[in-house]
Amino acid sequence: MKILIVGDVVGKTGLDRLKIELNEIINKENIDFCIVNGENSASGRGLRTQEYDKIMEYGADCITMGNHLYYRKEMAEVYDTLPRLLIPANITNLQGKGSMVIEKNNVKFGVINLIGAAEMGEIMQKNISSPFKEVENEIKKLESENVDYIFIDFHAEATAEKIAMGYFLDGRVTCVFGTHTHVQTADETILENGTAYITDVGMTGPKDSVIGLKKEIALRRFVNGEYLKYECSTNDAIFNGIIVEVDEKTNKSISISRINS
Ligand SMILES: [Fe+2]
Ligand SMILES: [Fe+2]
Repeated sequence: MKILIVGDVVGKTGLDRLKIELNEIINKENIDFCIVNGENSASGRGLRTQEYDKIMEYGADCITMGNHLYYRKEMAEVYDTLPRLLIPANITNLQGKGSMVIEKNNVKFGVINLIGAAEMGEIMQKNISSPFKEVENEIKKLESENVDYIFIDFHAEATAEKIAMGYFLDGRVTCVFGTHTHVQTADETILENGTAYITDVGMTGPKDSVIGLKKEIALRRFVNGEYLKYECSTNDAIFNGIIVEVDEKTNKSISISRINS
């Protein structure tokens, strides 16, 4: 059983690259299930219904989100109505699904979305509960539905918090993968008790940019301290993802490999 997970899709160039790659990788690698983080798909800031529709049409089975949920105020009432959209389960002031079970070819895939409590900014800090406590509730929910596999998108800034989550859930879930930093880490591993882990899957978006943002704008913000509006870079996109392979007899992960192209 092979699962493809794609890091934060940024803007139109990210979506265009996603369209090509998902189709190709799903067919070439015989992918059974695909999770895409879509939190930056609407011009770098959040996700609207049209981006949701596109990502699903391109081949995703489930879309996860992150802190960019708040950039699209008009979407606050809509998140919960999109059947395959997850929002972090430990966000306390928005309605949406924090976990779900998707049955495909008689296999029950469980997915949980969480957001970090460390270094995510003041506004986030006020509206999140502990991801370590919340994940226990979500795992119980999924286990009561007899899931075969559980995947966790831990959308977080702090490396240490993500590594801690990996150890916390080792042997209880199939895979803990980090998103949000937009830079793929080279620490993919299978932990001692069979959980696949990577600190950050990376980004599918404009390569010549500062994590998706036009570099000229990013430099003026950092160097001069100017307040400038976010503008998504539009040059060619990189594609960042992972493929996790699981043993269908033991339900444990046997390999995790990075895609960075
Ligand atoms: Fe992101
Ligand atoms: Fe993020």
